[in-house]
Amino acid sequence: MSTQPLMVQLTERSYPIHFSGVAEQLKADVATLRAAGRSVRAISDARVLNAHPHYLAQAGFQDNEVLALPAGEPTKSVEFFSQCLSFLAGQAANRDCTLFAFGGGVIGDLAGYVAASYLRGIDFYQIPTTLLSMVDSSVGGKTGINLPEGKNLVGAFWQPKAVYVDSELLQTLPPREFAAGMAEVIKYGMLADRELFNDLVALDGLNARSPELPAIVRRCCAIKALVVADDEKETARSGGRALLNLGHTFAHAIENVAGYGQYLHGEAVGIGLCLATRLSVALKQLPIRDIVNVERIVSQFQLPCRLNEALRLEELMTAMLRDKKNRGGQLRFVTMTEIGSAVTTDGIEINLVKDLWREAGAE
Ligand code: GLY
Repeated sequence: MSTQPLMVQLTERSYPIHFSGVAEQLKADVATLRAAGRSVRAISDARVLNAHPHYLAQAGFQDNEVLALPAGEPTKSVEFFSQCLSFLAGQAANRDCTLFAFGGGVIGDLAGYVAASYLRGIDFYQIPTTLLSMVDSSVGGKTGINLPEGKNLVGAFWQPKAVYVDSELLQTLPPREFAAGMAEVIKYGMLADRELFNDLVALDGLNARSPELPAIVRRCCAIKALVVADDEKETARSGGRALLNLGHTFAHAIENVAGYGQYLHGEAVGIGLCLATRLSVALKQLPIRDIVNVERIVSQFQLPCRLNEALRLEELMTAMLRDKKNRGGQLRFVTMTEIGSAVTTDGIEINLVKDLWREAGAE
């Protein structure tokens, strides 16, 4: 694997993703910022700080520069957003301040939105600590918080200045969370990289200590970097960044109806990937054998292909119709034309979608 950082190419907003010598790079960057008269702050959560108690101190952060929030999805809220702003304002942080997110997707999204908002925008850095945030949410600049009315309803595109992907941090990640991150890894294979898909199939298991993992994470980030460079704000009329949502229209509906926390996001994505495959087969874009291929790989990485218990079909459909990615009042899905190639597809028959939900265990 290359030791060079991977660049996300966004002209003046381009930034590196570091994969090698990451802790040293972070420490050097913090020292450089301080030497230039910049201050540093970090937002993290109690679980991450407990699992990695010395990581930020070794990178040069002092205790009073770190805000520890409770772990979990409820932290991605207006209340904690406000607490973060007060943390910065209470210490009279000015525009020279730089903000680091040290955590998974919740902390990255929240801290990113704080950085986008405080003093109309301060510099932001991502140190992802989960597989899911390493391969997905830390790259690409989507930041935001939830409202009681729905997930990610408030936010901004705010690109980080650098991302530090230290796969050593994954060694304390619970196996269920590791598996959830694998859903996004499988997703990249399905939408953009058949060889990655085949390589994953050939693996005899994968965990945080597997020697193959760093190269797999880098490969996913490389796909995401290309997609984001092409369609940063997801404005392409078709295809583009929306393709990264393969399986997610189904997944968001499951999370919404089951109640956040019943399924980890990646678990819902596992079911969503299987349903997106069945949809692609129903549209005659994929051969029927790919249902078996996808369900096998999803199960291989300890992810569900079907609902654990029945959810109400009408509620799932209502949640889908609210999806912010729909266009012109029509359901929009990402489907595959082959494993490794995806397209956005509008105008899907509602009854076809209902049949798929029933196959997944909805009633
Ligand atoms: N997670 C999808 C995206 O970043 O666009």
